Order: sequence, then C-alpha cells, then structure tokens
Amino acid sequence: MRFFKKGEEKKPQPKPESAAKAHPELKVISGAQVSGRKPQPPPQQQPPPQQQPPQQNIALPNVRYKIAVASGKGGVGKSTVATNLAISLANAGATVGLMDADAYGPSIPTMMGVQERPQTSPERQLVPLVRHDIKLMSIGFMVPEEQAMIWRGPMLHSAIRQFLSDVAWGELDYLIIDLPPGTGDVALSLTQAMPLTGAVIVTTPQDVALADVRRGVAMFERLGVPILGIIENMSYFLCPHCDEKTEIFRADGGKNMSERFSVALLGQIPLDAEVCTAGDLGVPIVAAHPDSPQSAAFGTVATELEAVLKESGEEEELTIL
Ligand SMILES: Nc1ncnc2c1ncn2[C@@H]1O[C@H](COP(=O)(O)OP(=O)(O)O)[C@@H](O)[C@H]1O
Ligand SMILES: [Mg+2]
Repeated sequence: MRFFKKGEEKKPQPKPESAAKAHPELKVISGAQVSGRKPQPPPQQQPPPQQQPPQQNIALPNVRYKIAVASGKGGVGKSTVATNLAISLANAGATVGLMDADAYGPSIPTMMGVQERPQTSPERQLVPLVRHDIKLMSIGFMVPEEQAMIWRGPMLHSAIRQFLSDVAWGELDYLIIDLPPGTGDVALSLTQAMPLTGAVIVTTPQDVALADVRRGVAMFERLGVPILGIIENMSYFLCPHCDEKTEIFRADGGKNMSERFSVALLGQIPLDAEVCTAGDLGVPIVAAHPDSPQSAAFGTVATELEAVLKESGEEEELTIL
C-alpha cells in the first residue's frame, strides 16, 4: 500500500509493501512526517516543541458541513445510512461528497457501484469519482477488495489526512465521512486533522448496540465533537403486503437513548430486504426506489439533520451577538 504526496515528482518508487494496484500518485509518507511520533532520537536531538506538526490544520473552507457517520460496533448499517443519507441530501438540492474512512473494510465502492481508479488533476490532487450525484473517495478504489488492510497507526493517520487535503473535493455543502466501527484510530486521526461539524451515530434498537452508542457518544464528547443526532436503523420490519410494522428488536431503543443524551433522533429506518439488496447491487435504495417508504425514512433523516444544523448555526450566531 502506498500513499500519495502532492507535488512529488513521478519517479521510480521503491517496491511497495504490497503489489496491490497502487495509485501512481500514492506514495508512502512515513509516520514521522505526519504524526509527530519520530523514531526515538537520542535525547539531545529532541526537536523543539514548535516543530511538531500543527493539529487540526486542514480546514476545507469550501466544505460547509463535515459530518462523521459513526457507530459503536460494526454491522449496524453505518455505510448503508451514509450512502442513503448522502443521496437524500443531494436529492434535496445539496452538493455532497462521501469519504469512506473505513480503511479496514471499505464498502462504499460496492454500495455505490463504482470500482475505478481515480484520476489525478493537473494540481496533482485525486479527483473523486462521481456516482448517484455524490463525489466519492475510498481506499477501496486503490486496493483490491479482497486484500486485507493492515495499517500501522501513522500510515492510517496519513491516509486520512490525505483523503481530506489531497482530494479535489471542490465546493460541497456536505462531506459525509463513513467511519469504521468502534471508537478507534480513525476517529482520532480525523478529529486531529480537521474540526468536524459533528457526528451522527447509527444504532440498532436492542440493548447491546445501545451500550456501544454510549461509548461512541463518550468518545466524541472527549474529542470535542458535537453529536448531531442518533439514527435508529433496523427499527422495525415493514410488511410489503399489508404495511404492518413489526418490531424485530426491542422497540425504540435509539429513541430512548436520544432522550437520555438529549440529542435529536434523526430517524428510524425499517429493516428491509430491499435496503440490503440495493446496497449489494451498488444502487442504494434512495436511488433505486426513491418513492418507497424506506427511502422516505432516509429522506426524514436528511431533513432532520438539516434542521439540527440550521438550529445549531442559529444558536452560534446568537452566542456571537
Ligand atoms: N435497514 C436495513 N435493512 C436491511 N438490511 C440492512 C439495513 N441496514 C443495513 N443492512 C444490511 O446490513 C449489512 C451491514 O450494513 P453496513 O451498512 O455494511 O453496516 P456497517 O457499515 O455499520 O458495518 C449490509 O449487508 C446491509 O445491506
Ligand atoms: Mg461500514
């Protein structure tokens, strides 16, 4: 796996760690260059503190809202929500980018139905691929799907930074960032690289998942990232024949959790075979069946998110006045 560095001459590179279909603009940036964790020099060579790389120095001024989609554990539907939310926001008229920050198991290429190598711009930035009106970037575009991702912390940190700063995102209303599950390195790297507008937390309604939500909320609080709301996925099964709602898991767990943490419940998404199939086929349900009740549920999440952002923006203005 190699990573790119802007402005670097194209010249023969040392053999990458993996012979994966590495992008020509990707190059290894050593951990020391990005993380400040220098290989231990003798004490007298310790750099003065001002030489440490600045934190949160990526601003992306042309991106209005930077929103992480997180969950305490895997398989709750985070990537499904991230893709359908992105398309719902675009359907409402917004310009949207989707960054797949799940470096361990990127699923955005499959779910959005695109598996190409991104081009490089004359400014030597990676040009996001566009599908369903969404600008996309994923580590999955650079390496074969079946390849195991083994990351050293500093490499992961540099990859996240480069996906923010060395990708030609252009002007966006939203950059949705699909995180890997849990409270790990990627969330930390992300929040160290760039101030986020906030995070949305995806959960299923049952108790085990909700314990993970607690951990997720606690992590973002410690990192100083506002929680914009909770999305309860797989909330109920909607019978396609009689429209009866069946609560497969415990009812309203996400709702109760949102009340406990005093954050918005942005929506409740039904458990539905079509949602799964659409993701597998690379056309998320909001694009495949825009008039379905499932798509309406994602539409509600987009509308509620916009409302929360608007409200928090107004509060900020009030505070400033
Ligand atoms: N509401 C839903 N109804 C049916 N299947 C779903 C739903 N949400 C997610 N899935 C399926 O569950 C699996 C895990 O979802 P995914 O979005 O990859 O989760 P995560 O990103 O949290 O690991 C996928 O196969 C996906 O299609
Ligand atoms: Mg995922």
